[in-house]
Amino acid sequence: MIRSVVRGFGSCLPKRIVTNKDLEEQVATSDEWIVQRTGIRQRYIAGEGETTASLGEGAAREALASAGLSVDDIDMIIVATSTPDNTFPAVAVNIQNRLGMHHGFAFDVQAVCSGFVFAMTTADNYIRSSMVRRVLVIGAETFSRILDWNDRTTCVLFGDGAGAVVLEAMEGDGTAADRGILSASLRSDGAHQDKLYVDGGPSTTGTIGHLRMQGREVFKHAVGMITDVIIDAFDRAGLTAADLDWLVPHQANRRIIEGSAKKLDIPMEKVVITVDLHGNTSAASIPLALASAAADGRIKQGDLVMLEAMGGGFTWGAVLLRW
Ligand code: UT7
Repeated sequence: MIRSVVRGFGSCLPKRIVTNKDLEEQVATSDEWIVQRTGIRQRYIAGEGETTASLGEGAAREALASAGLSVDDIDMIIVATSTPDNTFPAVAVNIQNRLGMHHGFAFDVQAVCSGFVFAMTTADNYIRSSMVRRVLVIGAETFSRILDWNDRTTCVLFGDGAGAVVLEAMEGDGTAADRGILSASLRSDGAHQDKLYVDGGPSTTGTIGHLRMQGREVFKHAVGMITDVIIDAFDRAGLTAADLDWLVPHQANRRIIEGSAKKLDIPMEKVVITVDLHGNTSAASIPLALASAAADGRIKQGDLVMLEAMGGGFTWGAVLLRW
């Protein structure tokens, strides 16, 4: 049985760090409120010349180097993003060109904060069908460019960045002991569109618009939705939370992460947290967290890792893999 195994990982952050204290000068907020309600202490904000594609390129180059591969070895690029450089072409095609890759194919996946989970699942299906052998899966965002910097209820929450992995086909036994993606669970429900959306777009206003969120409403649904897909992914693989080595959640809010871990009896020592450093980077948050925990040696080969996210749409999903 073919499995999609993580062979390399990488990340890229903008140069500029913006602290909660910096934001106190911009809107009526406080470091104390932001830390208490979200766990965020700082975020990286893209400057001139830094875009979703440039950050994604940086993460992709690092992932290729960590895999010991070149673009010649890659068959396909998927970028999860909701903040493309242009309405089209896809950021993935832009990155393909930046990497000097002129074979294979590339496209974007748009599932907002769940984008990386949807992109990993998409790549896994291409690999398991034998259509491709190696895929660069990138989550890259510049949410700072769609924020209303006068709206304190949203502008303090988000940041920019990119993370990437190289997924590679590997023969497995078809058991839960295999390395690679073991199971996934994806969901969406457009009935929740008005709770988290951007109030513009090419086909409506002709502008890019600004992010709007009913934070409390999103919060109310988050833990239940996240734990549902995690349990489904465990069930599909015949495993349970007791088997898990690492939970690598979407980094929107520390309280949501803690609530989900508690409901599943997963101790916080097994949870990778980067929301304090990065803020919510939407589709980039999981690969950024993965890259940091793999780079410092926390996630090791053979570890069982659960990725999960929930976001605009709503979309939500989980991917269970053995590193
Ligand atoms: O990644 C996609 C998924 N997104 C999420 O998962 C986000 C989910 N939601 C959340 O994380 C939380 O709902 C927030 C962090 C956005 C807000 O936390 P909350 O505990 O739900 O606060 P709240 O919205 O109920 O607001 C509480 C108070 C309000 O004041 P009043 O009405 O009680 O007087 C807000 O006006 O906090 C006020 N407030 C602020 N105060 C200082 C809202 N934003 C700020 C701010 N600084 N930045």
